[in-house]
Formats: sequence, C-alpha cells, structure tokens
Amino acid sequence: MVRKSKKYDRTEEDLGNIVGLEHVNVLVPDQQLAIAFYITGLGLTRDPFMMAGTGNMWANVGQSQFHLPTRGTQVLRGVVGIVMPDLDKLVERLKIVRNELKGTKFKFSYRKKAGYVSVICPWGNRFRCYAGSANTDPIQLGIFYVQFDVPKGTSEGIARFYSQIMGANSFLSRWDKAKAARIGAGYKQELIFRECSSELPEFDGHHLQIYIANFSGPYTKLLERGLIAQENNQHQYRFIDIFDPDNGKVLYKLDHEVRSMTHPMYGRIKVNRNPDQTNAAFSQGHEIEPWLRSATGS
Ligand SMILES: [Fe+2]
Repeated sequence: MVRKSKKYDRTEEDLGNIVGLEHVNVLVPDQQLAIAFYITGLGLTRDPFMMAGTGNMWANVGQSQFHLPTRGTQVLRGVVGIVMPDLDKLVERLKIVRNELKGTKFKFSYRKKAGYVSVICPWGNRFRCYAGSANTDPIQLGIFYVQFDVPKGTSEGIARFYSQIMGANSFLSRWDKAKAARIGAGYKQELIFRECSSELPEFDGHHLQIYIANFSGPYTKLLERGLIAQENNQHQYRFIDIFDPDNGKVLYKLDHEVRSMTHPMYGRIKVNRNPDQTNAAFSQGHEIEPWLRSATGS
C-alpha cells in the first residue's frame, strides 16, 4: 500500500532530450591573451588533462568548458551566461588584467541592479556573470545559458525545431524585453534564442556541444533532410541549420556538436581551482572550487 506523503511535481525534473550543454568553442588568435582573460580574469581553470599545448586550450567552468583553439577569431552572436561564486572577487580579478588587455575589446561593468557582471573578451565575445541564486541552484560555477540573437519572427519556428526534431523541452517566453525561444539544455541549462531587430553578422563557424539521450532520433530526422554537416565518429555528429519543421525554411545557423551519452567523455569530471587563493593568503584545503551546492532539499 502506498503511504500518503508530500506531493511532488515530478515534471520539474524532466530534462527533455538534451541532457547537458558542455562546451562552447570559439577560435582565439592569441593564447597568451586568452589565458589572461579566461584563466586570470574570469578565474577559470585550464583543463590539465586535455589540449595542454599552445594550439588549443580548454577552460573549465564548473562541469562546462570553453574550447579555445589558437587559430583565428570567432565571436558568438549572443551572450554566454555564467554562474560564479563571488562577483566582487570576479571584478577584482578583471581589474588585474585590465592593463594586460589594453588595446583589445576587453571591458566589464558590474550591473548591480540587474545582478550580473557584464564582460567582453579581447575579441568581442560577450558574457554575463551571475552569482548563484535560487534560479541557478544547484549550479555554483558553470555555464547556465547561451543566448543567441536571432532575426525577428523566428523564435516560434526555432522552438518547433528543438521540440520536434531534437526532442528538447522548449517554450516561448521573453528575454531582455524581447520574444525568445527557450530550450532546455541540461539541468538548469538553457539555449535562449532572442529575437532582435538589428542586423546579425554572418555565422562564423563557432560551435557548442550538447549531450542528448535519444541520439539516433534527431540524427534520422536531420539525415533524411540532408542536414548532417559532419559524421565525426560513432558517438558524435554535427549539424548547423536550424529550420522550421512546418515549412523547412532555415531560420538560423549554429554549429551543434551532438554527442551521445555513451561518448567516452560523457560525465568526465573537470577540475576547478579556487581562483582567489594567493601566495600571500593561502588557505590549505580550499584549493578546489565547488561547482554544485546541495539541492536535494528535504
Ligand atoms: Fe567541440
């Protein structure tokens, strides 16, 4: 017999088919400046196990990453939302790299009322860094959304694409006072496609990587329309065109690296340092930055 107990909304835990947004990949022209920005300034941790040379750098942000190959410049057409433990300390770190990044596009401002630090990388990529809150829990350090600027009139078709082709949770909403399609991309992670009226730059080939549970379903739908852009290996394919399933019209271009949950890197633990440890004020046992807080409740 089932005992009467507290009612739970079990649907709150449904992720949809996209179970994780792991990395955002943008080319950078200069690794030394990228280290100053991503590692010293933002306070992220260079992946010590992978891409440890000068040709590429992976920067851990909780269990997500930025992939930064050193061979050009790419600028994401939107904003990456990051959760960080302490925004005041972030601002202190950003002040430290200001001189080193002089003459680049680097800038930042703490928008206290809005609750985030707005940061622009040396090559124009935009970030918003938030302190952890009820909205972002349990993420304490990580990428929790990527917001793309999309043409007017496309958000409904984009939401249809992600729900009907990708099997993702999606809904229409608003973001920064504009119409937006919001797509579930993992636990407390989202892709947000916000309509804007300004002209967009041409797509320059940047990509993001997602893990999906039903790997073959979206593949079959994309393949029958001739939209698989790359067949990488047994566990990974790529596509670029986001189209309206109602009429086939391409609405937006974004390179998606799609991995199965059987991919060898799925669930790989990324190390994260506490960037506020210093020579002068070192505290043993506090070298590692936690990326999740307990969110199990009672
Ligand atoms: Fe990638």
